[in-house]
Amino acid sequence: MYASLKSIGAYVPKKKLTNADFEKMVDTTDEWIVQRTGIKERYLAADDESTSDLATNAAKLAIERSGLALEDIDAIICATITPDYFCMPSTACIIADNLGIKHVTAFDISAACSGFVYALSMAKAFIESGMKKNVLIIGAEKMSSIVDYDDRTTSILFGDGAGAAIITGTDDKKKAILDIKTSSDGEYQDFLITEGCGSKNPCSPEVLANKQQFLKMKGNETFKLAVNTLTKDVFEILDENKLESTDIDWFVPHQANYRIINAVAKKLKMPEDKVVLTVEGYGNTSAASIPMAINKWFEDGKLKDGELMLLDTFGGGLTWGSALVHFNA
Ligand code: UT7
Repeated sequence: MYASLKSIGAYVPKKKLTNADFEKMVDTTDEWIVQRTGIKERYLAADDESTSDLATNAAKLAIERSGLALEDIDAIICATITPDYFCMPSTACIIADNLGIKHVTAFDISAACSGFVYALSMAKAFIESGMKKNVLIIGAEKMSSIVDYDDRTTSILFGDGAGAAIITGTDDKKKAILDIKTSSDGEYQDFLITEGCGSKNPCSPEVLANKQQFLKMKGNETFKLAVNTLTKDVFEILDENKLESTDIDWFVPHQANYRIINAVAKKLKMPEDKVVLTVEGYGNTSAASIPMAINKWFEDGKLKDGELMLLDTFGGGLTWGSALVHFNA
């Protein structure tokens, strides 16, 4: 039994924030943002919309496209760093309730931008071990809830959104998730960090006054590590599976920065028309970035049944991961 990606879905919130909007908010320009990141616009959730709402919308679409009934789903994994609640309940439990799925294994994982690939690896293990039959995995983020909109170095980068997929079993290797690799290095824990409101610095007036509830990033250092790690990662997974970059139909990198994606694609010798790019329209949506990108390519009619995708991701922790996945919708 192989695990297989059976369907995809995504949800993009309504409120759009363009680079021109940022020009009015902080000391920046459209030109700087486009040149340094490739981002032109991103979408933000409404005040009364939480991560579980974004996730539920994406999940509904993925379930509908899978043709499965709600009662067929026996596990829900939500990858997020912006859960509805700080400790509990998990966002996955709220999503299960929103969907009307009872008595299901449901939990969140925290691996920042690598969360979806981490969730995919857990779903693969569940399916291949026979423990579960149909796993709903979701990457969902309300990044606007941890972004400091006075900080021009981070605020321009992030957007909100959600993507979801159904992972199920197949005995056909041509439809399978061929391989997934995930890893981390906590030595770089301060490269992307929200310092406040955890057990180390519990929420207090002082923590809030110092804006420690917001995301901070060492952008330049993260950039350099991202390019090196993402490149090494893809060469390893291709090599171990005896594949060349020419065997890949679509390279789906984490959508953080066009310059990072471009540098990695060049090192991979991946032609530009095989690189999935959504950063221009969505910005960096952390754990939602890869499933939102897959969904956009599917809805635009570019990604076809049976095609082989190479997913590649990198994020806070630091965490990273890559996956060879046949699209099987
Ligand atoms: O998803 C998780 C992984 N995250 C990433 O992969 C993000 C990786 N990092 C990046 O994408 C880039 O480092 C950034 C886009 C965040 C920054 O680009 P950069 O080319 O590394 O710029 P920098 O941080 O070296 O800053 C260059 C200059 C600085 O000014 P000075 O010190 O040279 O005078 C910044 O203050 O650009 C300035 N700057 C800005 N200027 C206009 C920083 N942000 C802005 C801004 N508008 N929004």
